[in-house]
Parts: sequence; structure tokens; C-alpha cells
Amino acid sequence: MSKKELRIGLIGTGFMGRTHSNGYNRVSNFFPELVYKPVLKAVCSRNEEKVKAFAEQWGYESYETDWKKLIARNDIDAVDICTPNDTHAEIAIAAAVAGKMILCEKPLARTLAEAQKMVDAVTKAKVNNTVWYNYRRLPAVTLAKNIVASGKLGKIFHYRANFLQDWTINADVPQGGAGTWRLDVDAAGSGVTGDLLAHCIDTAMWLNGAIKDVSAVTETFVKQRMHQLTGKVQQVGIDDACIFHCHFDNGSLGLFESTRYARGHKALYTFEINGEHASIRWDLHDLNRLEYFDHRDESIVRGWRSIHVTDGDQPYMDKWWVPGLGIGYEHSFVHQVADFLKSLETGKPCGPTFKDALETQKVCEAVIDSANSKAWKETGVEWVM
Ligand SMILES: NC(=O)c1ccc[n+]([C@@H]2O[C@H](COP(=O)([O-])OP(=O)(O)OC[C@H]3O[C@@H](n4cnc5c(N)ncnc54)[C@H](O)[C@@H]3O)[C@@H](O)[C@H]2O)c1
Repeated sequence: MSKKELRIGLIGTGFMGRTHSNGYNRVSNFFPELVYKPVLKAVCSRNEEKVKAFAEQWGYESYETDWKKLIARNDIDAVDICTPNDTHAEIAIAAAVAGKMILCEKPLARTLAEAQKMVDAVTKAKVNNTVWYNYRRLPAVTLAKNIVASGKLGKIFHYRANFLQDWTINADVPQGGAGTWRLDVDAAGSGVTGDLLAHCIDTAMWLNGAIKDVSAVTETFVKQRMHQLTGKVQQVGIDDACIFHCHFDNGSLGLFESTRYARGHKALYTFEINGEHASIRWDLHDLNRLEYFDHRDESIVRGWRSIHVTDGDQPYMDKWWVPGLGIGYEHSFVHQVADFLKSLETGKPCGPTFKDALETQKVCEAVIDSANSKAWKETGVEWVM
């Protein structure tokens, strides 16, 4: 079958630049039925030596050192934004005006106001778009979605999620610049709320519907850090830790915690859902497994089942090896590329779209507002796909 080309221009060659490039390189091998195939047309980063080496390593045909030049090119169909949060809005709006499709990293933006402008721009330009909340596309998480949607859990009472790290405990870690832009509020917008809880919120609303209102507390444990770009010791403006509880529209209660100060945890993302009949739980450190408890089981064998999500009839797994063999973190990005390419065939959006990610942004903003004002805040979330 001769394939239609989707010519990619990727901006940012760090962590996500690598995961996305791997996704583009793998997808046609494992999803041969897709009508579209990605073509790695150009990659952009500001340092010429590094971007040239990246282009050679990952198979890009060419490179740019100015994202505006990449967007201006006629041989690019889709712009992939893998740069820090402060650049998302400007790049995405320019790409939309140029009529390019956009795949944007999360969080959509630093603030709700920025995110709204991005949604307005893609809506006006009518360009295909998606946001890389990639955890949705780990097979065990997709299976959780299918189980919840099947009604097996019954009425949902509780949704609980954690995202715990420990990499900023040392007060000598600087803020700002390469590697530590996440600690600089101007670059990141917020701390763990936009960086980590945004993932938890996206998954939660996808699985359990809209979050109605929130009550949050945040803390900044290290108040001042040296800024890499200015060389000066400056006030830290991000939240190092955030805990919030909430009501979902379906009447269930949510409890969320994220921190970069949980010694011993590198990327512990977990969630648990408790329903009237059954519960499920998932842990990123054991990402191929979904645990399931069903109260309706015969009492003598009742207990938590550990489902190894590797069978061909479980989400995405028919594309990979044989039953029993697991896949990894990077496959969630391959799956998102596959689903984006499929969306070009079907005309159905590849969620989460910018519009969906705006709803997550509303919750993040309400969480920060609530922590600052020490009051409950309505999120204003209008819809969840
Ligand atoms: N989906 C996920 O799980 C996930 C994980 C990590 C990061 N992210 C998101 O991805 C984005 C990038 O994060 P990262 O960890 O890859 O960061 P990173 O620091 O590893 O890489 C950022 C890259 O952007 C480049 N860059 C910065 N400003 C630029 C500009 N003006 N023009 C061109 N290139 C520029 C840098 O040189 C670097 O190559 C962030 O929005 C982050 O929140 C998402």
C-alpha cells in the first residue's frame, strides 16, 4: 500500500524530543495498516551543533535553529512542540496561523489565559491538534478506561492519585535554564501542579468525568535558588508540593498529591478508583499491570487480581510481541502517534485535543488559586471527552 506522508517538524531536542522521535520512527513498523506515515522532515533547537547531531541520530532530513523558520517551511505538515512551557503558546499560535497541524506537549500552557488563546487559534485555523498526555495510551490505563466505561465498578465513590518525585530536595539545585527550567515559574508556569498533577488530572477526568471544585494546599520548601541564567539567588515561585481534594460531577471524591520531595520516589504515578462493586489500581512502576478487586467474586477466592495487560485482546497489545511479554514507557508515545495518524484517516479528533487539555488547565488554575486564597474554587470545567 502506498502511504500518504505526514511531514513532521519537531521543535525541542530534549527528553520529549527523543520520545516523540522514537514514536515516529517505530510507528509504521508496528501499525502497518495505517494510511499515513510520518516523515521526519526537520528538527529545530537553538544550538546548531547539537541539533545537527540530533538530526543525524534520529533520522531527520534537515534542521533549523529558529522555530519560526521551521514553521514557515512549505514541506512541513505538522509541528510537534517539545519545548518548555513558556514557548508553547507562541509556537502553537504561529503554527496554527500557518495552517500546520499541531502536536503539543503538556501542560498546554503556563496559564488558563494562554491556553485559551491556543484553543482559539486552532479552532479558527481548523487544524488537527493533540496534546501529549501520553499515560492515557499505556495499555493498562486504557484497559482501566474500558473497565470503568463498562460499568463493572458500579457507582464510583473515590478517585485517588499520586505523582511523587525527589529530585529537587537539594537546595543547591539551581532554577531556570537548561535542565532546571521546571523550577523557574516564568518558564514553567507552576511547579508540580502543571508538571505532574496535570497528568493525574487528565487521566482522572478521562476515567471519572469532570472535576467540579477543588481545595488545595501547596508548599515551596526551598524558598530561594540560584538562577542559572542570571547567576543571582532569586525567590522560587513554583509549588514544590501540592495536595488537593475535590468533587467530581458524578458525586465521587478525589484526593491528589504531588511532590518533588518524597525521598526514594523517582516517578511514582499511581491511581486507585473505588466503586460500589469493584476497585482498580495502577502504578507506573509496574505499568503493564492493572489490579482489580470485585466484591461479587465468590468469597473463598475473593481478592485483588493482578492483571498482566499483555494479551492480544487488551488495548494496543496485538501490535507488539506475544502474550506475557511487556512493553514500556516509550510505547505510550508510539501509540499516540498511531492514534494521531489514524485520526487523519477517520476525521475523528485525537484526544486529548487542545480543547480537552484546556479543561485540565482549568483544574490546574483552580488548584493554584485555591492554595493561594485558602478557599474552595469552582473549576469551571465544561465538558470531558
Ligand atoms: N508527556 C510527558 O510525560 C512529558 C514528560 C516530560 C516533559 N514533558 C513536557 O515536554 C516539554 C519539554 O520538556 P522536556 O523534558 O523535553 O525538556 P528538556 O529541557 O529536556 O528539552 C527542552 C528542549 O527545548 C529546547 N528549546 C528551548 N527553548 C527553545 C526555543 N525557543 N527554540 C527551540 N528549542 C528550544 C531545548 O534546547 C531543549 O532541546 C515541556 O512542556 C514538558 O512539560 C512532557
